[in-house]
Amino acid sequence: MEIVHDPSAVQHLCEAIRKGGRTIGLVPTMGFLHEGHLSLMRRARAENDVLAVSIFVNPTQFGQGEDFDSYPRDLAGDLVRLEGVGADVVFAPRAESIYPKRYRTFVEVAEITEWLCGASRPGHFRGVATVVAKLFNLMKPHRAYFGQKDYQQTVVVRRLVADLNFDLTIVVLPTVREPDGLAMSSRNARLTPDQRRVAPVLYRSLRRSEEQIKGGERNATIILEGMREMIEADPLAQIDYLALCDPDTLKAVDRIEGPTLAAVAVRFGHTRLIDNILIAAP
Ligand code: PAF
Repeated sequence: MEIVHDPSAVQHLCEAIRKGGRTIGLVPTMGFLHEGHLSLMRRARAENDVLAVSIFVNPTQFGQGEDFDSYPRDLAGDLVRLEGVGADVVFAPRAESIYPKRYRTFVEVAEITEWLCGASRPGHFRGVATVVAKLFNLMKPHRAYFGQKDYQQTVVVRRLVADLNFDLTIVVLPTVREPDGLAMSSRNARLTPDQRRVAPVLYRSLRRSEEQIKGGERNATIILEGMREMIEADPLAQIDYLALCDPDTLKAVDRIEGPTLAAVAVRFGHTRLIDNILIAAP
């Protein structure tokens, strides 16, 4: 396993791999790896000659007052996990090498970044799109792997790839969950025991929306109200947003008439968790 910190070194390495005719599967991460990341890596390992992973807590996707400083980090533990999953290339740059002093260029994906997480985290997707574009340019993947838990991020990255003509395939894999349904996330480590006990309510509320739709309910307001009631039953959970939307445009729907994305963001103290499910057309 080759661990590289320098952007130009990883670019040369990945260019050489490509020239040698081998395919590269990239899993971009912010580290503190869990089973959700590892499932992406196993798939990338199986589908490509070379498994490349980036570990970078990207400062530009965190707003003021967000958890950049307290975001969990464990590079030593991550490297052990990466050995276990058979990673070939690990890119772990320092922030100053990705954003040097005179750095001025950012990638904006319009419209689909304005609501859901984009509304509560202004500038977040600009930071994501920028760093993902840089990682694609540096690591030259044939395929890049993302988890469905960050559904809006996957829509933004697909748009970015299409609009900027990146020559690679985006692969999105299902959310990996704890036995009680909580979506795996590095941020789960920051929950207190009481918050952790309540946190599976995100998934339960999503499942409830699905049951209501399967039971014939078509009115989005009624379904969202049911989800709200369930989440607000515990004062530790503060709703950031609840949404029923079109899975392609991410626009909110008033009536359930086709495939629907149910999405939630909930704060537990300073920790904000997100989750979503795709519900088939009724
Ligand atoms: O999903 C994440 O961990 C991050 O948003 C990503 C894609 C690695 C970009 O920093």
